[in-house]
Amino acid sequence: MKRVLGICMGIGLLLFVGSCYYDQELPQAPIDNLPDDIVISFADDIEPLFSRANKNCTQCHNGLIQDPDLRVGQAYAALQQGGYIQAGNAEGSLFYQRLPGVGHRIQISFELTPEEIQLIKTWIDRGAENN
Ligand code: HEC
Repeated sequence: MKRVLGICMGIGLLLFVGSCYYDQELPQAPIDNLPDDIVISFADDIEPLFSRANKNCTQCHNGLIQDPDLRVGQAYAALQQGGYIQAGNAEGSLFYQRLPGVGHRIQISFELTPEEIQLIKTWIDRGAENN
């Protein structure tokens, strides 16, 4: 009898641990609700969005044709020096207001997704750090 109880408890424990694991596999929290301890990195999460093969902002925003210069290694300085960003206030930042998918003033062949836009917005709202 003790043994049966032990087995039951063992199975119970496995199910419990298994359910915790399952929780971690659920979709992540919406980006507008990101917990504060999840840091959005400019270098890792934001800057690469501007130089992707299929959504390449730098074909135009490359320091030659159109400001701001969004090339890797240039983007942060260009956004700061051009006055494009008000740290802590995405809605008041020209960069956010003019993003493709928000209010880019010319039609281009792609837009940022709502998730990408939200990520940039949250990064600005949280202080637009060069991290
Ligand atoms: C095909 C060329 C092209 C591509 C690709 C492009 N842009 Fe632009 N972008 C422009 C032009 C031209 C303007 C100026 C439009 C105007 O103000 O009349 C502009 C303006 C902007 C502005 C406002 C700049 C200002 O000084 O007013 C921002 C911010 C911007 N683009 C961000 C982006 C981002 C981010 C991407 C990529 C996701 C992107 N653009 C892709 C051509 C492009």
